Amino acid sequence: MAMPSQPDPRPEEETVRYEVVDGVAWVYFNRPDKRNCMSPKLNRQMLRVLESLEFRDDVQVLVLTGEGTAWSAGMDLLEYFRMNEAEGIGATRKAQREAYTWWERLRWYEKATIGMINGWCFGGGYGPLFGCDIAIASDDAQFGLSEINWAILPGGGASKVAAELMPYRKAMYHAMMGENLTGKQAAEQGLVTESVPADQLKARVQEVADTLKAKDTQALRATKWAMRRVMEMTYDNAEDYLIRAQEALNDFGGWETRKEATKQFLDEKTYKPGLGVFDKSKIEKD
Ligand code: COA
Repeated sequence: MAMPSQPDPRPEEETVRYEVVDGVAWVYFNRPDKRNCMSPKLNRQMLRVLESLEFRDDVQVLVLTGEGTAWSAGMDLLEYFRMNEAEGIGATRKAQREAYTWWERLRWYEKATIGMINGWCFGGGYGPLFGCDIAIASDDAQFGLSEINWAILPGGGASKVAAELMPYRKAMYHAMMGENLTGKQAAEQGLVTESVPADQLKARVQEVADTLKAKDTQALRATKWAMRRVMEMTYDNAEDYLIRAQEALNDFGGWETRKEATKQFLDEKTYKPGLGVFDKSKIEKD
């Protein structure tokens, strides 16, 4: 007979692992034996890790990925749902807040973020998936709103993520049928940015990270926040917001950066903005 699942004895600090290599923070969901499902311990640790990396000068880009065969198998049915529900509504609300808080932190992260979807991605996993600015999946990753298969609705933002990112008919089918999409299909339906063969996943993510690293960090942050904000605005509100956001960026060191970038194009003719990025090292040396 199968052994009933037990709570994970792994210490809280070990539920997430990370390394910073050459400007990129590689952050791993680190419960591979539990398919990286999100327990309260993991949710608390992930917030700690994200906060500790956010303002480090040696971190320009953050990559969120998973140890083992999963990105994240969604919420932990034992430690997040069953055990908290046994304690009552207070414990459930606390656990929800712990999860939603780090997903929100990720949505509005100061640095550029890339989701590297290496395997299973289910249900609650769509929260951090949406939080990542760019999502690159392995062709053979599996995405699912599996909630319907165990008789709940896709909560924790998961249905919103599908409705937001996928064509409506595809999102509805996805939520109702409980059938998985491969990374390739997820890319075709808009759930991720692109998918690549598994053996090229890390190299492709590194390539995207390197491109992002070369951009002006302040402008990159302003851009990703603007893209998220304008999604919910009328055209006129967006137009106005973007004027204000650019003016705020100017005051954030942006004037000097722009002058240098413009000079490199118009006067020095060392690059063309339509074909690549200016050399920001010229500014940092000043
Ligand atoms: N919650 C709690 N435990 C989970 C889990 C989850 N979401 N996903 C995986 N696990 C646990 C399993 O219970 C098992 O634990 P055990 O070894 O202590 O019994 C362990 O992780 C390995 O899972 P297993 O099912 O044997 O791995 P698999 O590789 O055969 O299958 C999945 C992987 C992801 C397809 C399968 O684990 C699964 O369907 N998970 C649930 C996904 C889901 O519906 N998530 C949505 C939640 S909103």
